[in-house]
Amino acid sequence: MKQITREELVKKYLDFFKSKGHKILPSASLIPENDPTVLFTTAGMHPLVPYLMGLSQHPLGKKLCSVQKCIRTQDIDEVGDSYHHTFFEMLGNWSIGDYFKREAIEYSFEFITKVLKIPLERFAVSVFEGDKDAPRDEESAKIWESLGISKERVAYLPKENNWWGPAGKTGPCGPDTEMFYWKPNNKKAPKKFDPEDNNWVEIWNDVLMQYVKDEKEKYTEAKQKNIDTGMGVERTLTVLNSLEDNYLSSVWEPVIKEIEKVAKKSYKGNERAMRIVADHIKASVFIIGDGVTPSNKEQGYILRRLIRRAVNYGRELNMKSFVEKVAEPVFSIYKEYPELIKNRQKIIEELKKEEERFNQTIEKGLNVFNKLTKDKKEMDCKEAFLLYQSYGFPVELIEEECKKRKIKFSIKDFEKECQVHQELSRTASAGQFKSGLADNSEATTQLHTTAHLLMAALRIVLKDQNIMQRGSNITPERLRLDFNFPRKLTDEELKKIEELVNSQIQCNCEVIREEMPLEKAKTSGAVGVFENKYGEKVSVYTVKNPKEKVGYFSKEICAGPHVGNTCQLGKFKITKEEASSSGIRRIKAVLQQK
Ligand code: ALA
Repeated sequence: MKQITREELVKKYLDFFKSKGHKILPSASLIPENDPTVLFTTAGMHPLVPYLMGLSQHPLGKKLCSVQKCIRTQDIDEVGDSYHHTFFEMLGNWSIGDYFKREAIEYSFEFITKVLKIPLERFAVSVFEGDKDAPRDEESAKIWESLGISKERVAYLPKENNWWGPAGKTGPCGPDTEMFYWKPNNKKAPKKFDPEDNNWVEIWNDVLMQYVKDEKEKYTEAKQKNIDTGMGVERTLTVLNSLEDNYLSSVWEPVIKEIEKVAKKSYKGNERAMRIVADHIKASVFIIGDGVTPSNKEQGYILRRLIRRAVNYGRELNMKSFVEKVAEPVFSIYKEYPELIKNRQKIIEELKKEEERFNQTIEKGLNVFNKLTKDKKEMDCKEAFLLYQSYGFPVELIEEECKKRKIKFSIKDFEKECQVHQELSRTASAGQFKSGLADNSEATTQLHTTAHLLMAALRIVLKDQNIMQRGSNITPERLRLDFNFPRKLTDEELKKIEELVNSQIQCNCEVIREEMPLEKAKTSGAVGVFENKYGEKVSVYTVKNPKEKVGYFSKEICAGPHVGNTCQLGKFKITKEEASSSGIRRIKAVLQQK
């Protein structure tokens, strides 16, 4: 079967929406102009936020479409499988206060069935099941059904699946309806759509944008109703061409081929390292193309991390001085981006400079490494930390070099050492060393863990997942916790909270500490105050009931320290509940002898 190319898919999409009265927008910069809450443009709607908010009128009108370059870095550690990318392109069409649900769904349906010619047997959709923020979306379901989709192919799903936005912390968002394609060629799609079945791949998302999320994480009905849609180019190409791996499609293959050539290795067997190199170099080309250079902050820091990670994985493949060669095919794949044409020389120069700098760092680090480990059978974790912290020597390399020389190295001890330093620097910056030693007494440690139990219990009893800690003060005698909540708690609620916390204490829950990059902690559902730099490791404390195999009671990003098991805690008692400031409540509580 003839394969559909990126150019064809993009042209078909833009031509279709042009024929429906939409104006074609050029792809905006990867660096958002109006949104300080995120580093990169993460979706096609991002550059349109002010218009979607109704703050001004778009010069090209109310119906727009585009292919937008995007960067999403939250999945950086996931890159390496067959479908995660940091850079991707998104096709989208928008109604800015013009058409709404019916037309949006009709357009999507027509494009899917008439232009892409996807047969209905291989098509299914999901709609929002409703919650306290927005009602169940029967209307979209009915529209799909009126177009010929059977009831069984319409799934109702909760917010975590069928809600989109805002792109940053605040802004326009809403429930969405998503479209799925049945991937296998050799197996007929079941009549009933099961969203858990990975053979169904999401290819398009129509967001029914009718809410605005504010600083206080509240959703209010927007004055203007919009449509925002997004179709990932890479994924759609892969499924339409019946490929198993995104990196085999025309937007990746030339990059992978070049890596194979330089590394003198085949893709098969080296998939992970080659995908990481390809993804990170492609993303870096585009980021530099939009004027960013490697540095230690913000976008420059992400860029530096991407390039260095690519170089590191390149070393694994035995590639040296390769970034220029691997970048070349990126320019040929994306011919129509003027910034890549104009800045080609600068892009290559910056890539090469960073590669060179990183290689020097590695050389220096290797010298120090050799001195530190001379005649030794084991690498000291404090010395490993020095290499990592002061010389910027990647820990993967420490591991690798130790392996080569048959030197013992415990990554666990190394992580513990990182943790100690992180805590020391935090405590120091909080000024807590002024009065001598920080107070890590047993009593405060116990109350610290209790504060986590209390946070989780508040969210459960008050049925509000948006409750966050807004301040905390713990002495050996009591804990004090401030959190956002709009009203006084009733006596009954306070009693329930106490009971829930005490029941967890009685269950002898384990308190488990894990270290992970901040982004991973966030996606794993951990709550907490995120003030670290991207990529920095954080510790996550999970309180887990040993009787329950899945799930946990509480999971928070926190520097600790904590008790190892809730059996070390006494009986929990709330001594006071009061207002702290507008919208913020304060609870004081103690642990009594059991
Ligand atoms: N903005 C929506 C998305 O990114 C369409 O999926």
